[in-house]
Amino acid sequence: MLLQEEKILSSLCSPVALHLYDSVDSTNNEAKRRSLTDGAHLYATGHQTAGRGRRGHDFYSPKDTGLYMTLSLPITEVEADIQRLTCIAAVAVCEAITALSDKKPLIKWVNDIYIDGKKVAGILTELLTDERNRPIAAIVGIGLNLTTEHFPAEFAATAGAIGDIEPNALCAKITDRLIALSHSKDNSVIEIYKTLNFCIGRTVSYVKDGAAHSASAVDIVSDGGLIVEENGIYTTLNSGEISITPQK
Ligand code: BTN
Repeated sequence: MLLQEEKILSSLCSPVALHLYDSVDSTNNEAKRRSLTDGAHLYATGHQTAGRGRRGHDFYSPKDTGLYMTLSLPITEVEADIQRLTCIAAVAVCEAITALSDKKPLIKWVNDIYIDGKKVAGILTELLTDERNRPIAAIVGIGLNLTTEHFPAEFAATAGAIGDIEPNALCAKITDRLIALSHSKDNSVIEIYKTLNFCIGRTVSYVKDGAAHSASAVDIVSDGGLIVEENGIYTTLNSGEISITPQK
């Protein structure tokens, strides 16, 4: 088992209740099932049997080669905007990796962390709602490939692993940075997000309302939306997948 409760707790600075699992279907599912809203709760495991990614995709979560974690934060204590919170989480992941290794992580809008051209981590932010559909907690799920070498065929070309990094310290550092940054109301965290993002200035392709587009990524706004320009027309993308066109 890569993760150990006493090691995570001894590295953590923030007040967080830790729930550690040998294996679980999905830490996001577990956070939703438990529905604990009395402060911050961290659900972490080294193995998910049904890890979930964005847009209904699976997140490959093999045993003991990755860190799969979900931080549940009461909605009163964080940004309720899922896209902005995803950006904040991406910054927290990059800062934690940088603090604990010599790797240079970068962000692909909106939720993917890359090292040396390979995706090593992804973020799935969801809202927990009450019976009247009012948000009560933000559920920020983060999956990190640490030493994973063999990926399913569909990810093999794009997925990679962080490599040598201490998983317990990483789990604690991401949690501390995410909690610290989640209180941020100004644009400073988005400015950091922009400096870590490798999409700006590149040609990106995406599909919107069934139509394929090729556009220049121009800027990122305070709620995390990506401004793109195509034939002089500016559009803000708020969800969906973009592909970066390779430079010639
Ligand atoms: C993505 O790349 O599309 C997002 C992946 C998010 C995966 C993490 S692993 C921990 C948490 N539990 C899940 O089921 N998903 C998130």
